Amino acid sequence: MTQATPTRLLWRDVTVFDGLATRPESMAVIVEGERIARLIPMPQLDAELAHGCRDMGRGGVMTPGLVDCHTHIVFGGGRAGEFEARLEGASYEEIARRGGGILSTVAATREADEDALFAAALPRLEAMLADGATTVEIKSGYGLTVADELKMLRVARRLGEALPVRVVTTLLGAHALPPEYRDAPDAYIDLVCEAMIPAAAAEGLADAVDVFCETIAFSVAQCERVFQAAKAHGLPIKAHAEQLSNLGGSAMAARHGALSADHVEYLDEAGVQAMREAGSVAVILPGAYHTLHETQAPPIAALRRAGVPMAVATDANPGSSPLFMPTLMLNLACTLFRLTPSEALAGMTAHGAAALGLGELGRLAEGAPADLCVWNLDAPAELAYAVQPGRLRQRVFQGAISHD
Ligand code: NIG
Ligand code: FE
Repeated sequence: MTQATPTRLLWRDVTVFDGLATRPESMAVIVEGERIARLIPMPQLDAELAHGCRDMGRGGVMTPGLVDCHTHIVFGGGRAGEFEARLEGASYEEIARRGGGILSTVAATREADEDALFAAALPRLEAMLADGATTVEIKSGYGLTVADELKMLRVARRLGEALPVRVVTTLLGAHALPPEYRDAPDAYIDLVCEAMIPAAAAEGLADAVDVFCETIAFSVAQCERVFQAAKAHGLPIKAHAEQLSNLGGSAMAARHGALSADHVEYLDEAGVQAMREAGSVAVILPGAYHTLHETQAPPIAALRRAGVPMAVATDANPGSSPLFMPTLMLNLACTLFRLTPSEALAGMTAHGAAALGLGELGRLAEGAPADLCVWNLDAPAELAYAVQPGRLRQRVFQGAISHD
């Protein structure tokens, strides 16, 4: 009896960015099943290795599939009016304090049922896939009741079943104080800790728990309580911290073993050192900095010096970053924050995966999962240099070609 041979896919003469660096030689890559079987310099490709492989073409740049480790793409409504208000002089904080901002999206998200939220989010996620994403994290945080937060997480899970992409879900119950708790923030934190986290954990709906540690959101002490509850339920933690001011949220998150602290514009040296010691990833979000016209850039040089891994993500959301294009973030990370193209690309591959606790992803290596992109480019730096949709030639997710 003959056994069916699994399909082997062969690319020749590709320039490989492996998740951390660009390989110096032109490479041949063979995918077998769901894994990368061979990643070898072209001269090592012989007839025996190539035998029986499906020819996937020659040339171009190959990268790991992009990992967008921070998004809020499930939401109801839109915030173009707030965009206009900011252009007329209102600040993000002022809008939040008068009940707009995140809370206006909360109202629209509570109104929408699961099907409506799914239908609205699908094209956003499709746009990210067309731009090379193979893993996308999606946060809740616009429901702020147990039922509405779980509804958002269910939609996120459904999106991952509907499209060829790995969706990682994060419960962000502590995103904003809902109006019904206006005078009782600690009682809302009780709800997050005692009802939301246990329910999300019991239903397997959350892969991690996040908080917004900021003057317009929750204090360091309140966020710490959320982390204790998350850890008691075995869930990894992460934080929106030091985005608009320096409260020390990143250092506290690091002390609790956070996977990442995100935004970190106002992170100080003590925060950098706490993150280094904990091995937390700094998630750099140039889309929010750009959209909110911020002036304080994250401490890139200090993070680099300390060896804190830097991820780069879209933060795609209706308010502070209505930007649904991962490769645009590579460009903005370089132009706004002076990351090198290679650092930016590592931020959306290997380090993006680390920020999700998925260290095996985001790398091209023999034995690694076959999530990869082939781009119509000559050099990996071109991905950050130009902002140009349509450069993706092929996208492979878990060994299957989903864009060709
Ligand atoms: O990551 N910083 C808090 N949360 C989001 C913004 C969400 C919103 O404005 O709707 C962020 O920027
Ligand atoms: Fe965010």
